[in-house]
Amino acid sequence: MYKEYRSKARQIISKMTLKEKIGQLNQITITPYSNDMDKLKQLIKNGDIGSLILASSATAGNDPQGHVNIDVYNELQKIAVEKSRLGIPMIFGRDVIHGHRTVYPLPLASAAAFNDKLLEKCYRNIAVEALADGIRWTFSPMLDLCRDPRWGRIVEGPGEDPYVGASMARACIRGFQGDNISDPDSIVACAKHYIGYGAAEGGKDYFHSEIGDATLYNYFVPAFRAAVNEGIATVMSSFNDISGTPVTGSRKYLTDILREQLGFEGFVVSDWGAVAQLQHMGLAQSKKECAQIALNAGVDLDMCDYCYIDNLESLVEEGKVSVDTIDLAVERILCVKLAMGLFEHPYGDKKEYNKLEHLNDARELAGESMVLLKNNGVLPLNKNSKIALAGPFMKERRSLLGTWTLDGLEEETTSFYEAIVEALTYGEVFCQEMSGLFDNSVYIASKADVIVLALGESHLTTGERNSVSDISLSKSQIELINKMHTLGKKVVGVFFCGRPLALEEVEGKLDAILYAWHCGSETAHAACDILFGDTVPSGKTTVTFPRKPTHIPLYYNTTSSGQPVNGYYGENPEMNYTDSLATPLYPFGYGLSYTTFEYSDLTIDKQSLSLNALKQGEKIIVSINVSNTGNFDAKETVQLYIKDKFASLLRPLRELKAYKKVFINRNDTVKVDFELSYDDLGFYNEKGEYTVESGEFEIYVGENCLTKNKTNVNLL
Ligand code: GLC
Repeated sequence: MYKEYRSKARQIISKMTLKEKIGQLNQITITPYSNDMDKLKQLIKNGDIGSLILASSATAGNDPQGHVNIDVYNELQKIAVEKSRLGIPMIFGRDVIHGHRTVYPLPLASAAAFNDKLLEKCYRNIAVEALADGIRWTFSPMLDLCRDPRWGRIVEGPGEDPYVGASMARACIRGFQGDNISDPDSIVACAKHYIGYGAAEGGKDYFHSEIGDATLYNYFVPAFRAAVNEGIATVMSSFNDISGTPVTGSRKYLTDILREQLGFEGFVVSDWGAVAQLQHMGLAQSKKECAQIALNAGVDLDMCDYCYIDNLESLVEEGKVSVDTIDLAVERILCVKLAMGLFEHPYGDKKEYNKLEHLNDARELAGESMVLLKNNGVLPLNKNSKIALAGPFMKERRSLLGTWTLDGLEEETTSFYEAIVEALTYGEVFCQEMSGLFDNSVYIASKADVIVLALGESHLTTGERNSVSDISLSKSQIELINKMHTLGKKVVGVFFCGRPLALEEVEGKLDAILYAWHCGSETAHAACDILFGDTVPSGKTTVTFPRKPTHIPLYYNTTSSGQPVNGYYGENPEMNYTDSLATPLYPFGYGLSYTTFEYSDLTIDKQSLSLNALKQGEKIIVSINVSNTGNFDAKETVQLYIKDKFASLLRPLRELKAYKKVFINRNDTVKVDFELSYDDLGFYNEKGEYTVESGEFEIYVGENCLTKNKTNVNLL
C-alpha cells in the first residue's frame, strides 16, 4: 500500500543530506517556540522538522490545550514547502481521539454500541472537522486491550475483548482514512499504543506489563492485525515494557512482529518521549543510546524528546547507526506523506461542514453506547413527571465530554439538568441545592414522583496518568444514594463515568441504573432520550463490571482453572474468595432494553466437519430466532461465542467471534444467521503461527457472554 511510493521516496532521499534525513525523523511541538516563532521557522527552513504535533503538553488528554489555528499551520508549512532546500512538507498531528469540535463518546462507551457502521460514520465526521482546522494526522484509534479498570486509559480503548478491538480498529480507521488517505476528507490514523500498554501492572500507568507471547498474539495483537489489514498508515510505539523488553526499544515487537509478521508498511512514531524514557527504564545509559536502540528497533519518527535530531548524526559517524537504517525510516515517512497527497496539497483548507448533522450523529452514537444495567420498571419516565434531581453531575458539562477532548467546548455542552428541562413537557424538575450545609433533597423528593441522581466520576480521574487504586463510587455519592433510598420514592441512578465502577454497594438501593459514560457533546441529550423513552437503550458493555474493586482483574475470556472454580461463570465462586462473591456484577456483553427478547431455535447446519474442508473454505452456519416479547421496538446485539474445549494451548471459556445488532419490532421475530470459518476457530501459538485444532467446540449465541444457548460442532 505505502510501498508503491517507494521509488518516488527514494528519488527524494537521493537528494537529501544526512541532516535533512534526520530532520524528517524529528517531531516537535510548537509550544517551546510559541514565543519564539522565528526560531521555529528557522528550524523548519533548515529542514530539521518532519512533523509538528499540535499539543502543548505530553498529557494533552486532560490539560487545557491552545486552540488550533489553521492559518499558523499554513504559514509554517509554507516555510517548509517554499523556503527549505527540498520543500518537503511537514505532517501536522493532533490527538483527535474521539472527536474534534463535535465530541463523540469515549471509545470504551462507543464500543458498547456494537454499531460499526455508525462508528465509522462518526469518525468520518471527526476527520472532516479536523481537516477544516488543518490537522492531517490523528493519534487514534487507541486499541489497548485492558482488563483493569483502575487504569485511567481503559476509557480510551475497546475494553477486554480482542474481537471488539479488531472491529473498532476497522471502523475507526475506515472512518478516518476512508478508502484512501489521499481522499480530500481523509486524515491519517495511528493505531496505538503498540503494544501491551493496557496490561500495566496494578493498572498503574506506564508500569511493567507481563505478557507471554501466546497471550500477546491471541489477546493484544488482533486489534493491531486488523488495523494493518485495514491499511493503517501509522502506529505508535508504547511506553511499557513487556517482560523486561521495552517495546519502543524492541526489534522483536516493532519489526519482527509488526512488520514481518503483520505486514505493516507505514511508519512508527514513538509515544511522547518514549525514546528518551528507555534511559529511565534502564535499557540505555544516554539519550544517544536511546536513539540508537529505538531507530534500530524500528521507531521511525521520534516524538518530542529530540533524541534523534540531537544524536543520529554522531551515531552514524561512530558507525552505531547505518545510513541505510536512516534512509529506511525516512522512506517510510515519505511514503505516507506521498500517499496522503501532502506534496500536492500541503496546506489546510477551511472547508465548511454540517455541525448539526455531526451533533445528531453524536447523539445517536451516545444513545446506542449507553448501557441500561438495571430497571425495576421505573424507566422510561413520563415527560409529565415531577422529577427530583440531585447529584454532583446534574449541572456538570466538561466531564461529559470525557478525557482526551482537546477541542470540544465545555460551554457548548448541554448539562443533564438542562436536557431534562428541555425534554419535559408538563413535568417539573426540582433540583437539589448544592450550597453548603443547606440540603433540600428531602423537600424536593416530597414534591416529586421520582428521584433521578446524576452520579459518576470526573474526566480528571480518567485518561493518561489518571489511574485510581479504588474504583468505588465516591463516599458522598454513596451517602446520597442511601439517603434518597429512604424517601419512599423510586430512585434512578444515571452514571456519567469513563470506566466501569464497582457498584455492588449501591446496586440494591437503585431502582434503575443507566450507565451514560462520558459520551461527548450530546451525552445529556442522549441520556434524556433514554430516560424518557425516545431512545430504547441497546448498549452492551465491552468490559466486565466487578462487584468490588478488590475483584480486579475479572474478565470474561479467561481460561479454565484446573479445579471447578470458574467463578465468572458461576462455578463455585465461593471458592474464588471466601469473603465475597466473585461473579461479575455485570458481565461482558451485558445491557438491558426496555423490551424483552427471547432466543429460540438455535441451530447449526452440521454437527461435524473435517479440518480440511474448513481450511478449504467450508463454513459452519449457526442460526437463532430472536423474538421481541415486550412493548417497545428495539435493537438487540446478538453475540456469538465459541469455546474450544480441548487444545494444545488453553483456550478461553468464551471467545466472542461475531455479533449482529438487529432491529426487531415488538411482537416480531427475526432469524439471525452467523457464518463461522477457519479464521474464527483457531489461535496463535507463541511463535505467532495460526492453527486450528480438531476436537469439540461449544458455540453460544445470546444476549451476553453468560448465555446458556449452546450448540456444538466437532472438527474432525
Ligand atoms: C501521550 C499519549 C499518547 C498521545 C501522545 C501525543 O503521551 O500517551 O496517547 O497520542 O502522547 O499527545
